[in-house]
Amino acid sequence: HTIKGFRASFLDAIADPFYAPEASCIRYFPDGLLVVEQGKVKELGNYTDLQDKYRDLPITHYPDRLIVSGFIDTHIHFPQTEMIASYGEQLLEWLSTYTFPTEKKFADRNYASKIASTFLDELLRNGTTTALVFTTIFPQSADAFFEEAQRRNLRMIAGKVMMDRHAPDFLTDTAESSYIETKQLIEKWHKCDRLLYAVTPRFAVTSTPEQLSNVSKLLTEFPDVYLHTHLSENVKEVAYVEEVFPESAGYLDVYDQAGLVGEKSVFAHGVQLTDQEFARLSEAKAAIAFCPTSNMFLGSGLFKIEKAKSQETPVKVGLGTDVGAGTSFSMLKTACAAYQVAQLRSQKLSAFQALFLATLGGAKALCLEDKLGNFEIGKEADFVVLNLRSTPIMALRNKPIDLEHPPTLAEISDQLFATLIMGDDRAIAATYIMGELAHQK
Ligand code: GUN
Ligand code: FE
Repeated sequence: HTIKGFRASFLDAIADPFYAPEASCIRYFPDGLLVVEQGKVKELGNYTDLQDKYRDLPITHYPDRLIVSGFIDTHIHFPQTEMIASYGEQLLEWLSTYTFPTEKKFADRNYASKIASTFLDELLRNGTTTALVFTTIFPQSADAFFEEAQRRNLRMIAGKVMMDRHAPDFLTDTAESSYIETKQLIEKWHKCDRLLYAVTPRFAVTSTPEQLSNVSKLLTEFPDVYLHTHLSENVKEVAYVEEVFPESAGYLDVYDQAGLVGEKSVFAHGVQLTDQEFARLSEAKAAIAFCPTSNMFLGSGLFKIEKAKSQETPVKVGLGTDVGAGTSFSMLKTACAAYQVAQLRSQKLSAFQALFLATLGGAKALCLEDKLGNFEIGKEADFVVLNLRSTPIMALRNKPIDLEHPPTLAEISDQLFATLIMGDDRAIAATYIMGELAHQK
């Protein structure tokens, strides 16, 4: 029976600031107390209101720090960790030149474990506590990933990649082998501790209709597993999909005809989506992982966030780093890139909207809002201690939090904005998993 407290400033999203006034969506406690019992949130409130109630509680105090919910990365590839920043190509050439040769190495289980370990340490160093993760076609690479995540008691979602055509022989499975291996992995890992499984066909062009039909069969047999794939990232890719599936009405329709578009489907990118496709994703309650650093690095394009966040056809959106096409593990840097993409399209992305996307919005995209995304009672206590003044310039830009004159919501929004724009792993003072320290700077 473990109960403990954390005293600091707290900021969390309790509703979607794309659809309601920010003040009603964001909670801010300049001097707050978070009470954690058995790894879950027992209470969050003002320290002065709660101090008598919890008089004997052991308290960890973080003066001049801002605690937020753990970041949720809705799309990332663990085997691409070592090939981040591979020069000069757009999607299809980048896959054949750099990605496929790198992923080949993950047939070696020990190698996969080593990279999975480095990868998870890097996520924690950046304040990312949950991610939706691609592995490779090798089931042993999925085993390696899940084992390392389990060792760290992390809530992670992952799956073996399925790919039975248009890829090198050394990296293809078959419709049948991918079905059998995926089924075994689901039985082994789905809901094992905090782990969850995502059926993971790489993208439309690398699966035969038979393989997609087996994906659908798995989703029927295991109705609460996820579907995780890529969608409408790059213009040449969209044309390739239409060439390979001439009978489909478009990229999303390939997945739709196979029965893969539902509430637990997460589609990475969506840069080239049509209005009808946004409407279909909305109707199906599917989610998009917005991966701004990747979309810029590969020259894929600028995601139309206002189409996803429309009144008429709202689509769930999370942020994804998409490492190794993405250029950073940091969700702060990813939020900065999302802001820049919005600006290039004459849109605004506020600090609180970005915080929402990185926390509660990601939890909603991954159907985990009953467990993660903010400090509501009963949720899992995965959180990040932010230093808003982690470099000399940021210390100049952001004044220390003075509890005699606590910052207003507008002032903390401004400090958070500067941290999203300028921050990186140096701003992550500590990361906690289920109330236990998992990383400290
Ligand atoms: N589409 C298919 N595979 C990939 C991949 O590994 N990365 C990205 N960014 N897009 C893809
Ligand atoms: Fe990707």
